[in-house]
Amino acid sequence: MWTYGGTYPGLTIRRPTGQTTNVTFTNNLDPAAGALTVHNHGNHSSPENDGQPDDFLIATGESRTYTYTGLEDDANERGTMHFYHDHRMDVNGRNVWMGLAGLYIIDDPADPATLPSGAFDVPLAIADRQFDANNLIPYVFNPNGVTGDRFLVNGVYQPYFDVGDRKYRLRLLNASNARTYNLALSTGDSFTQIGTERGLLPAPITRAVMRMGPAERLDVVVDFAGRLGQDVYLTDTLTGVQLLKFRVTQHLIDNSTVPPTLRALPDIGEPTVTRTWRFDRTDGHWTINGLRFDPNRIDAWPVLGTTEKWIFTNPTGMAHTVHIHDVAQQCLSRNGGPCLPYETMKETWYLDPGETLEVKLRFTDYTGRYMLHCHMIEHADDGMMTQFEVVAPSRIVLAASGRKVQGRQTVDLSWSGASSANIDIFRDGALITTVPNNGSYTDSIGVRGGNVRYIYKVCEAGTQTCSNEVTVRFGGPPR
Ligand code: C2O
Ligand code: CU
Repeated sequence: MWTYGGTYPGLTIRRPTGQTTNVTFTNNLDPAAGALTVHNHGNHSSPENDGQPDDFLIATGESRTYTYTGLEDDANERGTMHFYHDHRMDVNGRNVWMGLAGLYIIDDPADPATLPSGAFDVPLAIADRQFDANNLIPYVFNPNGVTGDRFLVNGVYQPYFDVGDRKYRLRLLNASNARTYNLALSTGDSFTQIGTERGLLPAPITRAVMRMGPAERLDVVVDFAGRLGQDVYLTDTLTGVQLLKFRVTQHLIDNSTVPPTLRALPDIGEPTVTRTWRFDRTDGHWTINGLRFDPNRIDAWPVLGTTEKWIFTNPTGMAHTVHIHDVAQQCLSRNGGPCLPYETMKETWYLDPGETLEVKLRFTDYTGRYMLHCHMIEHADDGMMTQFEVVAPSRIVLAASGRKVQGRQTVDLSWSGASSANIDIFRDGALITTVPNNGSYTDSIGVRGGNVRYIYKVCEAGTQTCSNEVTVRFGGPPR
């Protein structure tokens, strides 16, 4: 396998919150593997430390040090389990399949100290692989997702774990490229879910079966009391496979407790901007809003310090796991109704065919580019990924309106507040022209049918000082 530090999963990094952590990665792989990039999934990293898919790469034989501050919005990051993994454009699925993934745990003294800890706090990364006759794991790209028929927990096939008859905290990660699990206990006992990807829930929730899509994490407590001498299996009800055997071999005193309240959600304000992201299939490829990933295209420019509502839809026949980098998201609604009670604040969301999910998020600390993609990694490699750029609040104000001139879609732009001699005009993230800063420009796009949408912004020429963005639609209501 390809590994981080010689093991699969890679070396577990465990750090107290609020402490700056530097992690240096060296690319010792065969040159055929190409350049690498490492994303600390779930962490609030600055853009240059976030593992950009086509930028800040680690070339063969080179090293790169990533800095994680442990801070978020002027406070300590919340305690949780992240995972770090490769994020290289086009070959992300191959690189993760070959083994480039590891765990990153943040311990937070603000979390209740009575939860099971130490030897009773156990991270479990679940992943499937396909082995060939030589016990190798060749990767064969399939845009619908690469899965295997063997199941590994922390890299071990058919594992067992000796436990005492007491409570354990299990930090579950679905480290698979594309497979979804429905987790249950063979005894029929329930899990007590205490947390998600982004830390503890407001209160614990009892669940008998838990769906977990790629990159989702479930922080749960399982109680083996009364099971001394028994074997208890963690099973996947979708395949019927026993993923992990707990052998309850020891009587132990249990002084841990799960408090009735755990951790309140942060107040991130009310959204002022709404965006819709359609996880779709277009011209035979996985897309977002009809477009495949292009490292040179940015699809949204949220403003630092503001809160937005993002709506995710899935008109396709396959499930997707929506993952947003940078900041956590809080659920507003699912399918027009209430959120699932255990999905209060997350960063990877399961979206079944036909579903709609509304979340809100507030952009804090960093300006710059971040990813948004499906975490069924082959879907992302096939194109279901895009990027947004958090921008500083602007003094440049842009207005835009569309009209038809002899059938041609035409957009009148006007702006104020820019102080440069020239102005760059962007349509859908691409620079279309640079014009004198006289406050207006008319963009004659052409004759196009159907419902189309253009996003405009203007910037002081050659700089990152930009306006708000304005969406102009032609041909009917938004889809
Ligand atoms: Cu775990 Cu953008 O990824
Ligand atoms: Cu997908």
